[in-house]
Amino acid sequence: MPGRHAFQMIAVTLAAMCLSSCTHTNGKNAQTASQTKAAPPAAPWWEHALIYEVYPRSLQDSNGDGVGDLNGIIQRLDYLQHLGVNAIWLTPIYPSPLVDFGYDISNYEAIDPVYGSMNDFDHLIAAGKAHHIRVIMDMVMNHTSDKSPWFLESRSSRNNPKRDWYIWRDGKGPGIPPNNWMSLFGHSAWTYDAKTKQWYYHRFYSAQPDLNWRNPEVQKAMFDACRFWLDRGVAGFRLDAIPELFEDPQFRDAKVLPGKNVYGDPREDQSYVSNLPEVHDVMRKLRKLVDSYPGNRVLIGETYLPTIQDQLLWYGKNNDELQLPMDMQVGMINKLDANLFRTKINDAETQLNGNMPLFVFDNHDNIRSWDRYGDGKHNAAIARIIATILLTTRSTALMYYGEEIGMVTTPPKTKAQVQDPIGKLGWPKEKGRDGERTPMQWDSGKDAGFSTAAKTWLPIPPSYKTVNVQVESGQPDSLLNWYSKLIDLRKNNPALHDGQNIMVDNSDPNVLSYVRKNPGQGPSVLVAMNFTAQPQTVSYALQPQGIQGTHATALLADGGVASDVDLSHVVLPPFGVFVGQVQ
Ligand code: NOJ
Repeated sequence: MPGRHAFQMIAVTLAAMCLSSCTHTNGKNAQTASQTKAAPPAAPWWEHALIYEVYPRSLQDSNGDGVGDLNGIIQRLDYLQHLGVNAIWLTPIYPSPLVDFGYDISNYEAIDPVYGSMNDFDHLIAAGKAHHIRVIMDMVMNHTSDKSPWFLESRSSRNNPKRDWYIWRDGKGPGIPPNNWMSLFGHSAWTYDAKTKQWYYHRFYSAQPDLNWRNPEVQKAMFDACRFWLDRGVAGFRLDAIPELFEDPQFRDAKVLPGKNVYGDPREDQSYVSNLPEVHDVMRKLRKLVDSYPGNRVLIGETYLPTIQDQLLWYGKNNDELQLPMDMQVGMINKLDANLFRTKINDAETQLNGNMPLFVFDNHDNIRSWDRYGDGKHNAAIARIIATILLTTRSTALMYYGEEIGMVTTPPKTKAQVQDPIGKLGWPKEKGRDGERTPMQWDSGKDAGFSTAAKTWLPIPPSYKTVNVQVESGQPDSLLNWYSKLIDLRKNNPALHDGQNIMVDNSDPNVLSYVRKNPGQGPSVLVAMNFTAQPQTVSYALQPQGIQGTHATALLADGGVASDVDLSHVVLPPFGVFVGQVQ
């Protein structure tokens, strides 16, 4: 398995440290969904949605320049609709110097010409509507590009009215930054500006200066940008790096922890730079803003958080913050450990006050789940297990393009090939995120059907000849068809759609099993997954859960599991999966 990326490290470090912002469960949190939340008359669309992350540079190139674009996405809406996608989240498409491929925005109310025009965007919204697919924008509120006119003004003089839009401080002495804070992308989080003789703070790359969220003008400018896109019909926002909005007002040095990170920097406690309580005031205001629009617009958070209790805080004390803070605890377990999955999934079911968790395994920042969970020998079977967890648990599902066909992480071979700034800075230990951003593999033809260009922005992985949509569509047993069947089941089976998620066979270290209990009179569904390379036998007693029945009939089974099983003796072959209706 390749080394971890910075983003997995954030999750792991946070979880291990349980920062000072950790809170503790109260009795209420321990209750279950059905005890705490009366079924609403009609669930908002996002509750049961399948959200598909599109990295616009890599989905489909429509104009032959080797980079994906908005018209390319439009061309692929039929495929997405057929797969059962309800919404796409587009990573940033705003004008940007592209130092961090769009996460360095220079204009929040326009489209970068690389991806097309505002007309193309409007066309995408309309075409999406015709395909029943909503469009969610990425909103980067923590920082801008250093080429943003706001920052150019801010750095022009200490007296400029926008000086205080960013975080400027004096150094501790000549050449010494204001404190010891390290950037998540390596080295000091402060960059010196020779002209005005002060340092500016950047949580990420030096070309991504942090905005000062204690300045009300910043909030106004950002909320105006949100309104601009809501007015154009977007279904909501994925809020980038949202726990990072505020920093300690006293700028105290971080506590240094043992060890070094991949950049050779000291590891630091994050409590002065991440997850400060003031961010929740902003979230409440933002929620009010999106709620003032019709159609259940949604706020999704990029929330790498240390504990489930921190996760709960992001829904808001009165459910008045984010509807879907991402749950990074399940998807980033990074090993096929039945006990850990059981605990984390159950935490999400029982400790979020009945709110919908948002599970996610793959995204543009992390090594693909195929490689993180695969053992090198049974990757295809393990990928089915991951898909099954994502799509049969009680959660909104977030997937990433190419996950459904089993695209593999293909990192650059040499430093010269690296595009991603963190790979440039961290090479060779940290190769960056190019490997999980390679072009979508549509078919076995030129450029995998992604482009007609002589050279695509990232190389097409060699796997494309056999791992692609066209080939897999024709193979009944392909991963693509497995995803497709799961997505159908999730939508149409009442127990999988609405049922409580109850863990069973609780002390089994080898098999993860749960039931989705039918909320009405109909059958419940048993999901069982063998996490090992050896056959396993399980005996289920579901009566204590109020579920009658001695048999289960397969709705979907893999790895040679029988289609009708006696619940007292279920044999699961290596990495076998069984999803069955209890009779
Ligand atoms: C999180 C985004 O997902 C990542 O790609 C980006 O580099 C950082 N935030 C900085 O915006």
